[in-house]
Amino acid sequence: MKHPFHAVAIDGPSGAGKSSLARRAAAQLHFLYVDTGAIYRSIAWYALQKKVPLEQADAIAALLPEIHVEISYGADGLQHMLIDGEDITAEIRRPEVSAAASKVAAVPAVRAYLLEMQRRLALENNVIMDGRDIGTVVLPEADCKIFLTASDHVRAQRRCRELADRGTPVDYETVLEDMRRRDEQDRTRAVAPLQQAEDAVLLDTSAMNFEQSAAALVQIIEEKLAHEA
Ligand code: DC
Repeated sequence: MKHPFHAVAIDGPSGAGKSSLARRAAAQLHFLYVDTGAIYRSIAWYALQKKVPLEQADAIAALLPEIHVEISYGADGLQHMLIDGEDITAEIRRPEVSAAASKVAAVPAVRAYLLEMQRRLALENNVIMDGRDIGTVVLPEADCKIFLTASDHVRAQRRCRELADRGTPVDYETVLEDMRRRDEQDRTRAVAPLQQAEDAVLLDTSAMNFEQSAAALVQIIEEKLAHEA
């Protein structure tokens, strides 16, 4: 029997607008939006709390059995991350958690541990899932795959604006440098590196504003799903 739910996989580097665009498309199409970066961030937040040296993959792997990480969808429809019942959704957006998440995400045991959780969500819902390896590893059979990107310059500017809006401004040069370091780490890691799936549609939003990007994204998804039906 054919799997009854639809899955849309969106991958791309940081700051490409994946989360905000995927959230918009999911609301419009009545799909569940799953932000997988938030799950890696939650593991990183926990490792930071426990002061585990992030260079020690074994020490991070050893934490996994004791982490109670949950995704919950609030009345606001937004994805919340809980660890031991504590809502850490806002905490995981801090820059030190971003840097730690990239390191934690390179640990094979962490990726294996989270794979099941991500796949389960797609088995039980129509999902738009974003991350780095969704089209290549997590949901290789997704109905629609999109590789969302934009130039370094545009991505760093967007990230600066986002951090300022959150009340945690960081200067442009620092954001650009951190972003490049994380992207390099995500692209070159041995397990599930960031890369465009062969069958993914490339969407470069460098010259588009948010509304244009959202319209382009929804159009790609709708065309692909109509084709699948
Ligand atoms: O998208 P983000 O910035 O919230 O992701 C945080 C980190 O987690 C980032 O360094 C990439 C990593 N990540 C990953 O390796 N695989 C995913 N599916 C999602 C995120």
